[in-house]
Amino acid sequence: MDNFEPKILALCCHYCAYAAADLAGSMRLQYPANVRVLRLPCTGKVDPSYIMTAFEMGIDGVLVAGCLEGGCHFQEGNLRAKKRVGLVRDMLEEAGIEKDRLEMFNLSSAEGPRFAEIVGIMTERIKKLGPSPLRRKLEVSV
Ligand code: FES
Repeated sequence: MDNFEPKILALCCHYCAYAAADLAGSMRLQYPANVRVLRLPCTGKVDPSYIMTAFEMGIDGVLVAGCLEGGCHFQEGNLRAKKRVGLVRDMLEEAGIEKDRLEMFNLSSAEGPRFAEIVGIMTERIKKLGPSPLRRKLEVSV
């Protein structure tokens, strides 16, 4: 498992995390290249089915990144996302998938270095956990 490179999906709010990811790129900050960023208008748009579908498709970890609490452009979208992420973490555990494969973070658009740090944190965490059980099942069945 030494050469395991996790596949990570980042569901990023347009106003903060996506802008921070863009800033990290502009600043030429190094962060693991195994993250795929999907821009959403707000993390309030995150539906549990998006996350579960990502895992079903073989993603090893999902991070949801929204505006700072109190800073959501749609008022409470990030607070709703926080609740949903908590529910999905419980669902994952019920399904035998480590809940730490899913995490929510909050950051501002000015935090390019923080975005790079978050990607690094999730990558290291998922490397320790190893491939998702669902990914392993997909690989066996192909
Ligand atoms: Fe960023 Fe809602 S607008 S989390």
